[in-house]
Amino acid sequence: MKTLKEYAALVNARLKTVFPALEEGSFREGEMPELLCRSMNYSLLAGGKRLRPAMLLAAMDMLGGNSGEWLDFACAVEMIHSYSLIHDDLPGMDDDTMRRGRPTNHVVFGVGQAILAGDGLLNAAFELMLQAALRHPEQAVAALHAVQEIATGAGVTGMIAGQVMDLWCERNAVSGAEELSYIHRDKTACMFIYPLRAAGWLSGATQAQIEALGAYGEAFGRIFQATDDLLDVMGDSAEMGKTLGKDAAQGKLTMVSLYGVEGARAKVEEELGRALTALEQFGPEADFFRELIRSMVNRSK
Ligand code: IPE
Ligand code: IPE
Ligand code: MG
Ligand code: MG
Ligand code: MG
Repeated sequence: MKTLKEYAALVNARLKTVFPALEEGSFREGEMPELLCRSMNYSLLAGGKRLRPAMLLAAMDMLGGNSGEWLDFACAVEMIHSYSLIHDDLPGMDDDTMRRGRPTNHVVFGVGQAILAGDGLLNAAFELMLQAALRHPEQAVAALHAVQEIATGAGVTGMIAGQVMDLWCERNAVSGAEELSYIHRDKTACMFIYPLRAAGWLSGATQAQIEALGAYGEAFGRIFQATDDLLDVMGDSAEMGKTLGKDAAQGKLTMVSLYGVEGARAKVEEELGRALTALEQFGPEADFFRELIRSMVNRSK
């Protein structure tokens, strides 16, 4: 069983090669402008916990899949996540100036270029997955299912939907439990649920296994966003690599604004129970996921 750190190292090594550095200022035909390359790499290679790709790879290893052959699917998920962070930080969204311990993409490159860097990462993620699928025609159908899952998780009934409701509730001062639950599932949990389901398809898992991974991913994502909300109130900005205390200042609907700190913690414990129940059909091979979610409950970054 590999550790999170080992999976993150594999992902980082591959991500470094996805957009090789170009000669400064170049814009050769058939190549991307160097500015685009630099702005995408700026956010993609800035660090980050690499949780989502690590979990995709760990799920494949748990299910007996060939995670080495499908590393690019994991990298694609991280590219989509990185794009979502660039856009999340834009002045028209959360208006943040720090991310992954450095100035946000739009602070360095300007708003227009930051939008395009996000667009580029999103599109390139799908190119990477489709190229990987074409290298494995014998698994084309499974790969198509996996691409479809990842598209759904990032899409208009997934991450984008959650981001829409997050902004809408903030700007209309809406504060309801149903809205908050929708936001947390969609903006955050979907980026765990669907990549885990994709890992199932790529490993030839049963439908029951895919559903169990999805259920775990939902509880994991809800805990992850609840703890993000808690850390915005009581975390350490240097450790988190972003400016904290902004949710309350902006009037965001969060776990803390609705339930208070103690209430939010109680919700986290509830979800932990759900996640562990979802893993019951797996034996010790799922210990990576049991340990990972326990470590999230009291995370500091
Ligand atoms: C931040 O995600 C956005 C949320 C869903 C709260 P991460 O905390 O996983 O960010 P990185 O990838 O480690 O920077
Ligand atoms: C972001 O949620 C979720 C995304 C889809 C990017 P937040 O807005 O709470 O994430 P942070 O706190 O900026 O990382
Ligand atoms: Mg946000
Ligand atoms: Mg934000
Ligand atoms: Mg937050």
